[in-house]
Amino acid sequence: MPWPGVVRAFFDRLPIENDRNVVTLLEGNTPLVETPAVAARVGTGVRVFCKLEGLNPTGSFKDRGMTAAVSAAKEEGSTAVICASTGNTSASAAAYAAKAGMRCYVLIPDGKIALGKLSQAMMHGATVLQVEGNFDDALRLVVDISGTHPVTLVNSVNPNRIQGQKTAAFEVCEDLGRAPDYHFLPVGNAGNITAYWLGYTEWREEGRIQNAPRMMGFQAAGAAPIVRGYPVENPETIATAIRIGCPASWKSAEAARDESGGTIGMVSDDELVEAYRYLAAKEGIFCEPASAAGVAGLFKTAPSLDWKEGDTVVCTLTGHGLKDPDRAIAVSPQPAKVSAEMSAVLAAMGFAS
Ligand code: F0G
Repeated sequence: MPWPGVVRAFFDRLPIENDRNVVTLLEGNTPLVETPAVAARVGTGVRVFCKLEGLNPTGSFKDRGMTAAVSAAKEEGSTAVICASTGNTSASAAAYAAKAGMRCYVLIPDGKIALGKLSQAMMHGATVLQVEGNFDDALRLVVDISGTHPVTLVNSVNPNRIQGQKTAAFEVCEDLGRAPDYHFLPVGNAGNITAYWLGYTEWREEGRIQNAPRMMGFQAAGAAPIVRGYPVENPETIATAIRIGCPASWKSAEAARDESGGTIGMVSDDELVEAYRYLAAKEGIFCEPASAAGVAGLFKTAPSLDWKEGDTVVCTLTGHGLKDPDRAIAVSPQPAKVSAEMSAVLAAMGFAS
């Protein structure tokens, strides 16, 4: 049977009543790729897999939650959705709203979102408002607006988003035939770590897996409120997707960390860029900068973890590298300019006689 998208694949576990209301772009079922060059930096006998969420229809994991949230909105008779976003949520909301024939309003931080994401929201016909403030300011506004106006909020404070996103944990367990021992991922608004933990605990309670992984979440050092223990007023990081100072799912992220015996740590922008480039150069995987936070966190904490032979690690790579080509170009050696002559090209290739 062809893949039906996450709501239909896990219909009995998601809050959609009627199949007729499902709004899907056939998201989910993303590859879990073994990454030996990452494992080589971790330790012998440890296997590392990356879940390529950038291969969802709009290029990020947000599509899992968005199919659930927009389907539920349709079921409720809603005709418009709204979100605040660092980019990916707005791209996904705009696409699913377009598919559903709904209006979409997105509030994004002025000037601080990757161009690929902005182009998506614009192309899908959303009303895009650039707020003179950061994500946290935009989220406060959309929560208020959705409370007083006929628009459905599709940020992850909408529980249907978390429900949809938990399906990634189910897929990981199905692919591995068990749960991993550790799960590394970036943390921004903290919805995704909450959702994975929900998925793992649901399946453990049903006896489908025996153990749940330690949840290892990583924030950018300039936007690490959970690590620091207080909201960050002016979050800063090159990983604009996770440039968030006061995550909505703060408490549930801490619960995921504590119940799983995991960690929420932070990585510097330099560590994040190093992992971003390493994945591209050594594994052939181009993710967006924020996505590399989990892998950077793995590299950082690996020496202090108590590894056992056969330990399995999953890292979620949350978004596609093409979302933010400006950053990729900024951190890479620039192409050499050569004249259109054989000798010049060969010399530049190192084949000079
Ligand atoms: N990675 C990427 C690529 C993201 O876009 C986000 C969040 C995260 C990680 C963090 O996930 O918020 O569930 O902890 N992006 C949101 C957005 C905030 O508006 O697109 P989280």
